[in-house]
Amino acid sequence: METGRLGLVLAVMGLMCPAAEALDNGLALKPTMGWLHWERFTCNTDCDTDPTNCISERLYMQMADVMVKEGWKEAGYEYVCIDDCWPSHSRDAQGRLQADPNRFPGGIKKLADYIHSKGLKLGIYADVGKNTCAGYPGSLGYYETDAQTFADWDVDLLKFDGCFLDRSLIAEGYMSMSKALNKTGKSILYSCEWPLYEWPIKQPNYTAIREYCNHWRNFQDVFDSWSSIKSILEWTASHQKIIVPAAGPGGWNDPDMLVIGNFGLSHDQQQSQMALWAIMAAPLLMSNDLRDICPRSKELLQNRMIIAINQDPLGRQGLRTAQVMDCDVWERPLFGNRLAIAIMYKQELGGPRRFPISAVPGWKICAPQCNVTQILPQYKELGVQSHQKELVLSVNPTGTTLLTVTPLSGDLRKQHWNDTSAQKKHIVL
Ligand code: GLA
Repeated sequence: METGRLGLVLAVMGLMCPAAEALDNGLALKPTMGWLHWERFTCNTDCDTDPTNCISERLYMQMADVMVKEGWKEAGYEYVCIDDCWPSHSRDAQGRLQADPNRFPGGIKKLADYIHSKGLKLGIYADVGKNTCAGYPGSLGYYETDAQTFADWDVDLLKFDGCFLDRSLIAEGYMSMSKALNKTGKSILYSCEWPLYEWPIKQPNYTAIREYCNHWRNFQDVFDSWSSIKSILEWTASHQKIIVPAAGPGGWNDPDMLVIGNFGLSHDQQQSQMALWAIMAAPLLMSNDLRDICPRSKELLQNRMIIAINQDPLGRQGLRTAQVMDCDVWERPLFGNRLAIAIMYKQELGGPRRFPISAVPGWKICAPQCNVTQILPQYKELGVQSHQKELVLSVNPTGTTLLTVTPLSGDLRKQHWNDTSAQKKHIVL
């Protein structure tokens, strides 16, 4: 980007930034994109009988190879992330974590070198408590040692889980690890589960979370099912007043992995996950088998227009703005006074719902005219639409129609999304 434009983007981002400071490690200025093993490969450590799918260095190397060869890297997916079950059950003589020697014979540093040689980044997993959720050694009492070990290995991201720690100590633990990572002098993206583990005892302090983490899980683990996706969306919408203001360049709400390309979602439901994760400015961490993925799922995950919404430079998370005609309407303000609109039809019966765009609260910005692009369920330029004339969309059951609209008035004062009081009036929080 040339300097003038970069300056403008930064100025706008500055204006739009949430009040709270972001973790100042220069990372996650846009939602993280990559691959994370958990949902698809869980804690499969049986390399004798299932060498292709067990948690071993081979899995990450193969995923990295495919990411480069099959266009994933080019589409923006950058981090190859290890989840639970990578370590040996005991620390080494110096008290350091070590990878399971049978499954990671080369060790993590070698794996990081390999991933870096492909132009990608490596993520690792640890836990703030005594043990990881699957029972491997936790970092409690070893925050500085573990942070330094990860830095020595040249790891680029840490997913820090919250099992096996008294909930009243969660905040302190996550903050201490953030400081320990910072102390290493290496920039390591810090992915937290702090609010998820704190909600059962109190409303988390999102100002603090944003100061210490680059993204944070709020809600339960994603499963490969439509009911799981629905529950995550419902939780997000019903807590949007609290969590949305915390998101912005440097720090994001994390609704968990994309499960597109697996077994549990229909194609329309996969489109819904992709569209809504873009609207939510969510990290796009796929958990699937990139070595064997159906072409339609691949095309959806690599859809440049949806990725562009997710990575929009304004960096504002979208919201659910209406519930009407069995549909949830979500809207996300984009850079340059544009708007992304997602209409998800919730009824699990019958055929497509006809949905008048005038039922979208933000359609107001299209007076007198807007240029409308439909991205899902299929790409279609809907051209210049006037606010007066009724545009009727079609939304599939459990599917999502995703659009971008660009007002043609060019009058920036009409950018009511950037005006907090107007935003409050406009949006049903
Ligand atoms: C927790 C996390 C998951 C995953 C597992 C691993 O449940 O929320 O994302 O990391 O632990 O054991």
